[in-house]
Amino acid sequence: MRLTVLGGGGFRLPLVYGALLGDRAEGRVTEVVLHDVDAGRLTAIARVLADQAEGVSDAPEVSVTTDLDEALRGADFVFSAIRVGGLAGRADDERIALAEGVLGQETVGAGGIAYGLRTVPVAREIARRVARLAPDAWVINFTNPAGLVTEAMSRELGDRVIGICDSPVGLGRRVARALGVDPERAWFDYAGLNHLGWLRGLVVDGRDELPGLLADPTALGSFEEGRLFGPEWLQSLGSIPNEYLHYYYFNRETVRAYQEAEQTRGAFLNRQQARFYAELERPDAPAWESWDRTRAERESTYMAHNREAVDAGERDATDLESGGYEHVALALMRAIAHHQRTTLILNVRNRGALAPLDEQAVVEVPCFVDANGAHPVAVSPLPDHATGLVCAVKAVEREVLAATESGSRARAVKAFALHPLIDSVSVARRLLDGYREVHPGLAYLR
Ligand code: G6P
Ligand code: MN
Repeated sequence: MRLTVLGGGGFRLPLVYGALLGDRAEGRVTEVVLHDVDAGRLTAIARVLADQAEGVSDAPEVSVTTDLDEALRGADFVFSAIRVGGLAGRADDERIALAEGVLGQETVGAGGIAYGLRTVPVAREIARRVARLAPDAWVINFTNPAGLVTEAMSRELGDRVIGICDSPVGLGRRVARALGVDPERAWFDYAGLNHLGWLRGLVVDGRDELPGLLADPTALGSFEEGRLFGPEWLQSLGSIPNEYLHYYYFNRETVRAYQEAEQTRGAFLNRQQARFYAELERPDAPAWESWDRTRAERESTYMAHNREAVDAGERDATDLESGGYEHVALALMRAIAHHQRTTLILNVRNRGALAPLDEQAVVEVPCFVDANGAHPVAVSPLPDHATGLVCAVKAVEREVLAATESGSRARAVKAFALHPLIDSVSVARRLLDGYREVHPGLAYLR
């Protein structure tokens, strides 16, 4: 079984490879092909993986290449985890938005639109090549903004592309822990778009335990979302929002906190990663340790300004473990490759699962997964307020897709202007001008 990873020089690869090393099951991945446009990073990460594999018998064989076609031929699964424009591009996305007084964040609002505008053409070209060179492969998309990018790729690959995110898993796990129930036994009634979803129920043995939690302010204050949003707001909503909804519900506070911060998240990560790769290049570098240190530092600072903005205090140490991209990805691969039926919250084409959106819209909902792929489960309707947000943001994503297809500047302006977190058409115009100045990848917009 061959797994190809696009963005294979990325810093999260050791997590994925670690999960593969732990998999002893029949039919597991035996070959990993790493592809990246940056040869230096590929070498650096391959060294970390070689360290990890030391002493493990039958460790999946790792090869590296900068040739995309070569990487795709013969692949059974393709993980797409690219970052068009790098972390420097992300820092620009954030900075330009904040200078206009609107949220500057990787996936939400103006930053997410800018990132989408330059990523979609690249992702779509990759999807075309997969369709040509590895038509039977399954593509698992990690590339952000994950919902939008998955929808773009689905126009070439249909339901052979599945988008993943660890945030619904992380949320579900935290809520289960607050309730004292085993997450493995729970059904999570979660629905929305990527980074824009709500947990409306948590069912164990046929009983929804969420109303009990919502009635208990102390228990609500005991986990990350309760501290971020406050128990009272969760009670008003009657659901637990994905942490990314903090950018909507506390927009003014987070924008201010991000503006006052010494550096944006992207700028921080850009410097951190530059140090990390430089360290790995030294012959005496403690490769594995330096990777782990980088990861721990990254995770401990995740969403720190959001917490500052609402005095939510420190993130609970037990919350720090990431929701586990690698575990979601592995569970998904296993279910498909071995017909091991499972349920996962994934980004797939709607096919009627979420009523107000059309069949082609990629949504984030629970899915049954088997050898034939991921089948979205029809979920109960979202409340009006959530439907409004989901439809508004999907309309923005569709404008981004239209802009990438037509190369029309006007469509790109429309994408920014229609976003609920961008409050003026003039701001939208200035944002696009600002982004076009710094991102060569946006030159196609005329
Ligand atoms: C969460 C999100 C991902 C995001 C990641 C890292 O896991 O679901 O989409 O990539 O956080 O965020 P960071 O700010 O550390 O890059
Ligand atoms: Mn995500």
